[in-house]
Amino acid sequence: MAPRAKGSSGSSVPADYFRALYRTNADPWTYAASAYERQKYDATLDALPRKRYYAALELGCSVGVFTALLARRCEALDAVDVSEDAVARAAQRCAGAPHVRFAVCDLLTEFPAGRFDLITFCELGFYFGPNDRRRIRDAIAAALFSGGDLVLVHWTPLVDGHAATADAVHEEFVRDARLAHRNGARAATFRLDVFSRA
Ligand SMILES: C[S@@+](CC[C@H](N)C(=O)[O-])C[C@H]1O[C@@H](n2cnc3c(N)ncnc32)[C@H](O)[C@@H]1O
Repeated sequence: MAPRAKGSSGSSVPADYFRALYRTNADPWTYAASAYERQKYDATLDALPRKRYYAALELGCSVGVFTALLARRCEALDAVDVSEDAVARAAQRCAGAPHVRFAVCDLLTEFPAGRFDLITFCELGFYFGPNDRRRIRDAIAAALFSGGDLVLVHWTPLVDGHAATADAVHEEFVRDARLAHRNGARAATFRLDVFSRA
């Protein structure tokens, strides 16, 4: 799956790791060509409780392959990533979708402004150490409208250099009283959970 990252159980993978990765690789996880990713994206979209969203936020949009699919379900979609190169490629991919806005954003130091009825946090939480995970979870809970949906999807096999396992990330959200667990699914190599803001 992913290239090896540079985190540990106590510390987040630094933003520069991802910036450098995209400088030398146009699509490090081969999202555009992967049948596995396409199946996972379809499962993610199928799990969304509502047909349409008015204001959605995609955290860690990479090169915009999922963004382009999610955009079809949204009136407005904000998509952010820490890598300028990734955001530029994502914006190019979604050039025909003017309701999608892209921004460079380092979740280790900031969080996108606004309130949303859908937030996606996919293949991202395991890069953050416990303090950053708590802070980002708080920011997600604050940015969701009451009744708004949150979807988490993460690769479950252990990866060297990740700061946490998929299960550790998802269980923190399951235990969060601000979020009601709506549904969950496990495939051979990923876990998917959907929550609604209480
Ligand atoms: C494994 S990819 C997942 C992409 C997409 N969410 C998906 O599921 O297809 C992780 C993405 O998160 C981005 N990322 C990592 N750390 C970040 C941070 N601190 N702030 C914002 N984005 C970050 C990376 O640049 C990368 O594009």
